[in-house]
Amino acid sequence: MGANATYKARQWSLAGLKGISDKTLEMHFKLYEGYVAETNRLTEHLADILKDGQVDQEEMPAYSELTRRLGFEYNGMVLHEYYFDNLARGAAGEPKKTSAFARAAGESFGSFDVWKAAFVSVGKMRGVGWAICFQDPHTGKLSNHWVTLHEIGNVAGFVPILVMDVWEHAFILDYAPAQRPKYIEAFLANTDWDVLDRRLSAAGAHAGR
Ligand SMILES: [Fe+2]
Repeated sequence: MGANATYKARQWSLAGLKGISDKTLEMHFKLYEGYVAETNRLTEHLADILKDGQVDQEEMPAYSELTRRLGFEYNGMVLHEYYFDNLARGAAGEPKKTSAFARAAGESFGSFDVWKAAFVSVGKMRGVGWAICFQDPHTGKLSNHWVTLHEIGNVAGFVPILVMDVWEHAFILDYAPAQRPKYIEAFLANTDWDVLDRRLSAAGAHAGR
């Protein structure tokens, strides 16, 4: 084990969600643990290469490939943590009208409903990836983004506020591939809107607002 930080897989107790089965969650937790393990493995491997204080010419191909994979594995780990963190049993379905998230959605999109329509449509985009509502910590504005795989499309410095996995593994045990909209509905029914408020205030604090 190198001197670099080793990540430990986190755990969530999410059994009993609406429309997302326990079986799906168990399978999904295992996938997440794979990203944690692979992030640690890559980090150790890179540290190994650097043991002699340099990257030799013959080490460059391996060093390059391992480094390229960091974005995939790190984001695979981190985005799943955001995802499981923003789910909860017995969620309210919609945020309170006075909540920080509902206000931010209104300020950024005109209304919460328009934000929701925009976010759901990002989730329905064809391809393998994530729908993420970010906050720009400098302007406070929310924007919805598509992230291909785990790493293509994340905006540097923006804070993930709501993170929805739309890889098929997130719902294939519960819905057919063409039924992704039903999964998105279930995801939003289980969204813990209070968590979003906490992420917003953390982003605001970070920006010194
Ligand atoms: Fe996933």
